[in-house]
Amino acid sequence: MQVYRTADEPTGISTGALVVPFFSGSPLEGAAQQVDAALDGVIAGALASGEVRAKLGDHILAYAKGQPYRRVLAVALGDAASFSPSSLARYAGLAVRYLGRRNVEKIAIALPAQAAGREAECASFIAEGAITGAFDTTLYQERPERRLATSEVAVPGAGFDAAAVERGIARGTAIGEAVNLARRLAVTPANDMTPTRLAEEAEKVARASGLEIDVLDEARARREGMGSFLSVAQGSAQPPKFIVMRYEGDPSSKELLALVGKGITFDTGGISIKPAEHMEDMKYDMSGGAAVIAAMSAIGALKPKLNVVGIVPATENMPGSKATKPGDIFTAMNGTTIEVINTDAEGRLILADALVYANKLGATRIVDAATLTGACVIALGHASSAAVTNDERFGAAFLAAAKPTGERYWQMPYYEDYTTAMKSDIADLKNTGGRPAGALTAAAFLREFVDDTPWVHLDIAGTAYLDAESAWQAKGPTGVPVRAFVAIVESLAGGDKGNVRSNGARSEELAV
Ligand code: BES
Ligand code: MN
Ligand code: ZN
Repeated sequence: MQVYRTADEPTGISTGALVVPFFSGSPLEGAAQQVDAALDGVIAGALASGEVRAKLGDHILAYAKGQPYRRVLAVALGDAASFSPSSLARYAGLAVRYLGRRNVEKIAIALPAQAAGREAECASFIAEGAITGAFDTTLYQERPERRLATSEVAVPGAGFDAAAVERGIARGTAIGEAVNLARRLAVTPANDMTPTRLAEEAEKVARASGLEIDVLDEARARREGMGSFLSVAQGSAQPPKFIVMRYEGDPSSKELLALVGKGITFDTGGISIKPAEHMEDMKYDMSGGAAVIAAMSAIGALKPKLNVVGIVPATENMPGSKATKPGDIFTAMNGTTIEVINTDAEGRLILADALVYANKLGATRIVDAATLTGACVIALGHASSAAVTNDERFGAAFLAAAKPTGERYWQMPYYEDYTTAMKSDIADLKNTGGRPAGALTAAAFLREFVDDTPWVHLDIAGTAYLDAESAWQAKGPTGVPVRAFVAIVESLAGGDKGNVRSNGARSEELAV
């Protein structure tokens, strides 16, 4: 998918379909008004009919006679007063999926009038949405049933700041492609997406984006003392890989943000085996890790002024003959002993060593993402990820940076009670804390491995994949939290996002 700016007026562009936005309860403006005038009131007429409301995603298709564009697709963006630029990603995604299915190869997507003064931010969401909308999960179909034909999206730029629109498109393209990379890694089944393959994908990203990469094999992980990580790997025939990617954007600074992602390429539950129903979804248990690798590729493309390390402990969780047995005790890299009560609580075991390793590399802030608990899905459903922090300032900075991306995060508390629930009778910790507040006892377990480093934990069990498609997105993996990872990096870098409004705290505000 190619997204680019042209100097055209929307109504002057030669294309298969011209996409324009409109809002509920306000008169047509900008591109929609121009098209409406050129086409004898066709949009206003449809709206006056009362058949089309203006909820986000409602739309009107018309064929345009005697115009350089063959069709017009008017897409509602909801209420003008509550317009948020991230809705433009859904606007563009809907356009690509609707028109792509109708075999329209080239389309043009107009900016809303509200984009004036915030062109980069708005164009970024249009590019991101067009690219993520085009993502096809039928990677393994020899005879694809439905391909999306749209491969080119022009953004008519007349009347808008040309440089800002181009900057926004470049940024949105990098983010959209990273989101799709995370989704491809996640949707690829576990027989193909092994820890070895995931490490190869990370190496490809590193080569393409000029990042450093270090992949620790089992022997090196053993020498580092990663007994907790390796306890999960020991039941599998697939060798584990501990992936470390580095981007140096500010060599003069000691600040280092670590992005850590759970990389369980398949979670059977181990000896505490899962029921068969929906177990196939456990190929998605490396979604946090996929998001780290993908975010590192976007960071390599965007070149923010910040040092970032991406860490992905990757292994299967299998019930092989060497597998962990409930009651077994292992020692993590920081010397903490862990009694494994339930081998299905494996995510926290691999993240424990990854968090210690992040600190060993000098991390000054850590954000981890994991499809960690079913309890998180019970708490928040598929509507939002959970966020838990050990540092309210950094937690607030993360939430503020993530909010404008359109991804949702809901802060959940930490109480010492949750740590108490994780104490073992025989070792320092146990790996399960019972049914109450399962997402939060899991977070409390992780907290034991981050020291005092400001840290945010994201439980993405309910948001990493969805079993229904929407008008703007295929079903399956969502790419969460790639957008939030990029946003916190940009926010900490504090630098030049053009006129992209940060809405988030700048680096000075965050300095500790
Ligand atoms: N990968 C699962 C969590 C999960 C569940 C992700 C559903 C996505 C959808 C995790 O490894 C797990 O099995 N967690 C257990 C922990 C329990 C044994 C304490 C769970 O949530 O049941
Ligand atoms: Mn599990
Ligand atoms: Zn898991």
